[in-house]
Amino acid sequence: MSNSVASFESMADALRQRFQQLHGRRPRIFRAPGRANLIGEHTDYNDGYVMPVAIDLYTWVAASRRDDRILHVHSDHFGETIEMSLDALSGSPRKHWSDYIRGVAAVLAAGGREVSGANLVIHGQVPLGAGLSSSASLEVSTALALMWTSNFELPPLAMVTVCQRAEHEYVGTRCGIMDQFVSTFGRSYHALMLDCRSLDFQLLPIPANARVVILNTMVRHELAAGEYNRRRADCESAVKTLRRHLPTVVALRDVTSADLERYKSELPDQVYRRCRHVISENQRVLAAAETLQAGDLNRFGHLMYESHRSLQCDYQVSSRELDVLVELASACPGVYGARMTGGGFGGCTVNLVRSDAVERFQSHITEGYKRATGIILAAYVCSAADGAGAW
Ligand code: GLA
Repeated sequence: MSNSVASFESMADALRQRFQQLHGRRPRIFRAPGRANLIGEHTDYNDGYVMPVAIDLYTWVAASRRDDRILHVHSDHFGETIEMSLDALSGSPRKHWSDYIRGVAAVLAAGGREVSGANLVIHGQVPLGAGLSSSASLEVSTALALMWTSNFELPPLAMVTVCQRAEHEYVGTRCGIMDQFVSTFGRSYHALMLDCRSLDFQLLPIPANARVVILNTMVRHELAAGEYNRRRADCESAVKTLRRHLPTVVALRDVTSADLERYKSELPDQVYRRCRHVISENQRVLAAAETLQAGDLNRFGHLMYESHRSLQCDYQVSSRELDVLVELASACPGVYGARMTGGGFGGCTVNLVRSDAVERFQSHITEGYKRATGIILAAYVCSAADGAGAW
């Protein structure tokens, strides 16, 4: 599936019409893309490197201003409408989709800006719980909509950090910055190589003879938030221990493989393996950037497989279904590389496939996956997309 401008047009029209029926006025429409991460997993919150692409699956938000202090929000996906007062946004996560909206509004307001009442209708194309950043795309599109209805604008990077903070404080996931960043700064036909410490980034063209194919295991990452926060805590505890010997270390980004081996005996085995993943993954991202620039997709793909193995064995965030998909992909002609993408525990794999081999790849892998698991997967042949904006 590759979305065309015409299909976006008709989707936006349908959203506009629905909004008009509900609220009797014409909305402005914003959209923010999901993402697939090519390589660099669980490195962002360790001040490391990542290389995602924004994908042409979006969360769309139609918005108009209200004159009271109410956010009136309809979610197409949940078929649910909720109202919240801008004067009662605080409170811990409620495990409800509206936490994202509440969080973005609350963090925008906490920055000292006057957030006004708004009507929002949300239509999401990014599959939920699939590791493709439906959350970040909802946060970013909501932030754009609320800034517009409230008549102020933040610089894009400030908006990114608002969205990340909303997820930490109102959803309860201590995510890194990758997803919100690429949903905002992504560029069509390019991967975005981000240094999550300096926030410097480089746009690297994806060669025309390769396609990014996402395969959805159709297994949602239900328990992922708790496991995700535990991984992050493991990394932080390692930094604390290693700092006793290496006082300049601020994050795992600063630890070399040699350092890790030297102090291995002071870390519980599980924590040691978490570190080994992060440190080697950072090296892989740097190598991947070089190979992409040199157009060496075979080597790039090799790094993707290594990344998957490290996530499977050392970071332990893969799942049987993800492993089956990567295994099957590695046996398909025309596949450069494959790996799980996103937080893990279900969700999707990302595959770099020679353009002329995509069709065969899809049918081969759909068959094989069904045979191995009994599940019918969903495949998205993606184009790298531009970051968020008004439509
Ligand atoms: C989730 C988080 C990101 C990142 C990935 C793992 O998508 O939101 O910040 O940590 O997991 O790489």
